[in-house]
Amino acid sequence: MIELSPDAFYELPADQRGQLLAFWGKARKAVSTSAGFSGEIVFLDNGEGVFPRLTCAKFPRKREELTPAIRANRFLREIKLQAAAHYHPNVHWPFDVKLILGVPIAFFRRWEGDLSDFIENSQWGDLGRLSLIIQLTAGLAHCHGRGLVHQDLKPQNVFVRDLQSSFSLPSTDLWLRPLVADFGSVNLAADVGEFTGSRPYMAPEQWQETELGEWTSVFVLGIMLHEIMSSGFHPIGERSSDWHHRANPGFNRWQKSELWRRWVEKGCPIAQPLPDKDLANLVAACLKPSTAVRPSLREVQLALLDLLQQRSATAAKQVTLFLDVAESQSAPEEWQHLKGRIESLERQINAHYP
Ligand SMILES: Nc1ncnc2c1ncn2[C@@H]1O[C@H](COP(=O)(O)OP(=O)(O)OP(=O)(O)O)[C@@H](O)[C@H]1O
Ligand SMILES: [Mg+2]
Repeated sequence: MIELSPDAFYELPADQRGQLLAFWGKARKAVSTSAGFSGEIVFLDNGEGVFPRLTCAKFPRKREELTPAIRANRFLREIKLQAAAHYHPNVHWPFDVKLILGVPIAFFRRWEGDLSDFIENSQWGDLGRLSLIIQLTAGLAHCHGRGLVHQDLKPQNVFVRDLQSSFSLPSTDLWLRPLVADFGSVNLAADVGEFTGSRPYMAPEQWQETELGEWTSVFVLGIMLHEIMSSGFHPIGERSSDWHHRANPGFNRWQKSELWRRWVEKGCPIAQPLPDKDLANLVAACLKPSTAVRPSLREVQLALLDLLQQRSATAAKQVTLFLDVAESQSAPEEWQHLKGRIESLERQINAHYP
C-alpha cells in the first residue's frame, strides 16, 4: 500500500487540488480561490445550464502549529455549529461535507461576494443599505435563538446574495440579501474560554473577557451600521478598506491590539457621527460600553424599519415581506440529509485520526 504524507492534500499543486475538489463537488471545474485567516476557499463552476451554477469548497488552512487531527476536529466543530443554524435565508449553510485525503471539506453555494465588496459601491443607495442591515438583524437573531454567538462578525463574514442574479426583478437596490457566514469562532468563549474575534470588530466584553451574548452582536451591528451608511468609515474615524483588502501599512496598523484596546478604554468614541441624527443615535446606543444598556437585535430592527418607512413606504413593505418569508421558512426541523452527511464525516475523522 502507498503511504500518503499526512499533508498530501496540501502538497498537491493548486490546479490538481482544484480538480480533485471539482470532482468530489460534482462540478465542472475549479475557477478561483479565496482565503480568510483560518480557512481556504476554492470556487467551483458547475457549467452553464446548471442551477445553482456556482459553488465553493472550504477547508482548513494548513497551519503548522496544529496537527492535522486538530485542524480536522476544529473544522468539524465549525460545520456542526453552522448546520445547527440551518435554515434561515439570512444564514449561510453547507450542503455537503467530505473527508478527502484526511482533510474535511465543506461545500457551499457561492454568493455574489461579502459585504466588504459592496460597502464602497456608490451605486448602492441608502434604501438598499438599510434594507440589508434590517435583514442582517433577522439572521443574527435566528443564530442567537439557536444558542450561537458568532464572535467574529465583520463585513467579510457577511456574505451577499444578489437576488437579481437569479431572478428578473425591477431595478431597485433592495435585492442584496445578507447571509451570516463563517462559524469558525462561534461560542469559543463559552466553550473554551477563547474570547477574541477580529480586532476592529471586537466588543469591550471580548477584550475584558466577560460574558458574550446577543449584546456582542449588537455592538458589531452598530459598527457595521456606521460603516455601511458612511460608505466605508469605521467609527474610529478611518476608512476600513485597507484592512479589508489587507493593504499595508493600514492593515498592519489595524492588526495591533493596542489601537483597539485604547479605543475601547476611551468608551468607543465615534469620531464622525453619521449626519442623520436618528441613525447616529442608534449607532451610539449599539456601541455603549455597558452591555446592559445596548438595545436588543429586535429593537435595532424595529428602529431601522421605522427609519426606512420614513424614507420609503415601498422599501419598508418589501423588507417586511422578506422578514415574514424568512420567519415562515425557518422551520426548526433538521435537514436530515445534512445531519447524516456530518455524522458520516465525524465517523471518518475518528477513523482517520484514532
Ligand atoms: N460561499 C461564498 N460565496 C461568496 N464568497 C465566499 C463564499 N465563501 C467564502 N467566500 C469569500 O472567502 C472569504 C473567506 O471565507 P470564510 O470567511 O468562510 O473563511 P475564514 O478563513 O474562516 O475567514 P476568517 O478570516 O474570518 O477566519 C470570505 O470573506 C468571502 O469573501
Ligand atoms: Mg471569514
